Amino acid sequence: MITFPAGFIWGAATSAYQIEGAWNVDGRTPSIWDTFSHTPGKTKNGETGDVACDHYHRWPEDVALMQQIGLKAYRFSVSWPRILPDGRGRINQKGLDFYGRLVDALLEADIIPMPTLYHWELPQTLQEEGGWPARGVVGPFVELADAVSRALGDRVSQWMTHNEPWCTSFLSHQIGVHAPGWQDWPAAFAAAHHVLLSHGLAAAQIRANVANAAVGIAINFEPATPASDSPEDYHAARLWDGYFSRWFVDPLFGRLYPADMVDHYSRSGKLPDGLDFVQEGDMATIAAPLDFFGVNYYTRHIAQASENLDEYRSLPNPGAEYTDMGWEVHPDSFYRLLNRLHFEYRPRKIYVTENGCSYPEGPDGDGRVADKRRIAYLRSHLEAAHRAIQNGVPLAGYLQWSLLDNYEWAHGYSQRFGIVHVDYATQKRTLKDSALWYKDVITRNGLS
Ligand code: FCB
Repeated sequence: MITFPAGFIWGAATSAYQIEGAWNVDGRTPSIWDTFSHTPGKTKNGETGDVACDHYHRWPEDVALMQQIGLKAYRFSVSWPRILPDGRGRINQKGLDFYGRLVDALLEADIIPMPTLYHWELPQTLQEEGGWPARGVVGPFVELADAVSRALGDRVSQWMTHNEPWCTSFLSHQIGVHAPGWQDWPAAFAAAHHVLLSHGLAAAQIRANVANAAVGIAINFEPATPASDSPEDYHAARLWDGYFSRWFVDPLFGRLYPADMVDHYSRSGKLPDGLDFVQEGDMATIAAPLDFFGVNYYTRHIAQASENLDEYRSLPNPGAEYTDMGWEVHPDSFYRLLNRLHFEYRPRKIYVTENGCSYPEGPDGDGRVADKRRIAYLRSHLEAAHRAIQNGVPLAGYLQWSLLDNYEWAHGYSQRFGIVHVDYATQKRTLKDSALWYKDVITRNGLS
């Protein structure tokens, strides 16, 4: 029997665009994900989040499911264009009211609401002004933080500013497989900076509005393992780490942008004008102390040197277990990551803000969803998390991704991460075996 610390926060996570649907209802305007998913060729089978899990209308049922599973916390995100349809300025009360009702229902069910302000839904109007690569986006983001924290701050204390800045910047502006789909290194660096800056300013705004606010940010990690002991592979692993992790974590903990990476990017022509987007005071704003550090972990990255230092190529590991996303199952990397973050950066508190896996199992003839591999994945990662806690890692909560099967961005509906199965034709929800197993974990506060 493995027991977690008393008061450990067990939860699950979702995000607005992935579950809400109702994309053009009650005053919501398009976000960059509406534009992107409605553009032919951008997502699998041209699938969109127009309907998704229809959570905008079915949220009472979804809160009831959370209660049935026994969740102690629920991480969700707010849709920026529901709340500020012009990106800034005019507040759409109907949008705020939706989240207000959700929060009330969660509190009624004894579930801690943990909103994230930005899980990738930039209003299209702000994209037209230049989007994240343009500094002008920062002010409107702080307006969003102000509007939401004013409306919910009497009932919500746990806040996250951004989800996965690497995805908002590099995946979306350099690799280009997420909205807005650019392939432009300098724009990606500028986007990363504006995301971090907006985080720091929004954190201050939330704290000004909410006396007991705890503010964090959710960062994604794909820890690198060198493919061999060669110096070249070590170098490749170090570069991957700089690109994916240190570029964000170092500034958040007051260490500025990593000098080795600035040098690497300058020499390779990716940062032709250096850090010209950094203005006086920015780095101090970004490094405002965090109440908690959010960690999203799914898989590791095997780094091998290649001629053009292609930073995002992971080497396959024959014989390893892979999920449907093609992601290697590697709980040991999760264990090492939690240790590394604690011993290297000393965050006050850590929450795992996402961890989970995609497997396709649906209901069998009896309506049961026997998702054994998901249970094995979650169990092995919880064991790793528990081992990290034994080392002194201040891990205080775990939010499984995801409560519901949902719209997996460019993969459309082909990837199922939920502990609750969703039949998209009927919107019927079915608890998978993993949800029942998770309920048991929560009840025992540990693993048998
Ligand atoms: C993370 C995202 C989340 C979901 C999972 C599978 O990168 O934050 O929205 O797509 O991956």
